[in-house]
Amino acid sequence: MGTLSLRNVRKSFGNVDVIKGVDLDVEDGEFIIFVGPSGCGKSTLLRMIAGLEDTSSGTIEIDGAVVNAKPPNERGIAMVFQTYALYPHLTVRGNMSLGLKQAGRPKSVIEERVAVAARMLSLEEYLERRPAELSGGQRQRVAIGRAVVRQPKLFLFDEPLSNLDAALRVNTRLEIAALHRQLGSTMVYVTHDQVEAMTLADRIVVLNAGVIEQVGSPMELYNDPANKFVAGFIGSPQMNFVDAGLVGIKDAETAGLRPEHITLASSGGRLGGEISHIEHLGGETNIYVNCADAGLVGVRMFGEHAFEVGSRHELVIDDSRIFRFDAEGKRIRLSK
Ligand SMILES: Nc1ncnc2c1ncn2[C@@H]1O[C@H](COP(=O)(O)OP(=O)(O)OP(=O)(O)O)[C@@H](O)[C@H]1O
Ligand SMILES: [Mg+2]
Repeated sequence: MGTLSLRNVRKSFGNVDVIKGVDLDVEDGEFIIFVGPSGCGKSTLLRMIAGLEDTSSGTIEIDGAVVNAKPPNERGIAMVFQTYALYPHLTVRGNMSLGLKQAGRPKSVIEERVAVAARMLSLEEYLERRPAELSGGQRQRVAIGRAVVRQPKLFLFDEPLSNLDAALRVNTRLEIAALHRQLGSTMVYVTHDQVEAMTLADRIVVLNAGVIEQVGSPMELYNDPANKFVAGFIGSPQMNFVDAGLVGIKDAETAGLRPEHITLASSGGRLGGEISHIEHLGGETNIYVNCADAGLVGVRMFGEHAFEVGSRHELVIDDSRIFRFDAEGKRIRLSK
């Protein structure tokens, strides 16, 4: 089992409040991802769950037991950091075994667990190498393996992929997804990469300046954001925000238009302007149109398109997909 409950959890460094009252229930086996801008408190919250950081007030429960006063090694957790923090003088096998050795586990158990983890993470042929003889991706897999062999109730990951190059990041992301499927363990994972969050999470926790803005499945956050912050954070390119009046909406302050819900046309659009910039990504094309009142509006189209910078277009918007926000940025949901 590996449930986690946070009850009104707070953290201050001196007189600076960093975590400002977080409540969260994580189910056994769930993959939970904390996302949010740099400095919003993701790592601090994770370190508090791990016991590497004191909790100023509130309670943290793992499997129903309050762990606030327990040191990290008594919490049943294993943490994987952005920097792999491997011992350079130990082999891969040595690094993966160390925690279990220190805990006095029998040699046969250690060997068995290391063998299973090495197979799972495709590290079998590297077991006798030292970290300096491995690529970044392999080192990170060793760090993950070191966590796996401990069979924790809770895996904690702090941006494990951000030191890897783009291709390796995708591969390792798929491996972590496969690992979660195989182990069925509870995982709490911090990233500022929304693609990682969308592709890995059962539920995403969107943090902003020490408070939770919204918790939901990736598609809940995409289709039903609670406010402008979440709407702007989930989705790439970002949602466009324009004065609601410009797109014919009277009962809201701001209209949110996802780039993929806008098409370019020669007439019939509520907004229009000149193309100021185009990003050709092959599979998709992002077009930025400078509209007089609405400012720069991003449009995302599938496939390749040969539009020219400087050419004039109108923007046709799917009205049924416009998001409405009030003056405070809170979402106004239409009653069905
Ligand atoms: N030991 C500390 N003393 C004082 N302030 C701290 C300490 N550790 C973190 N902070 C502050 O707490 C806030 C949250 O930091 P944290 O590392 O949790 O952010 P983060 O969301 O993980 O950001 P990033 O995406 O950049 O890693 C920041 O403003 C940071 O400066
Ligand atoms: Mg961090």
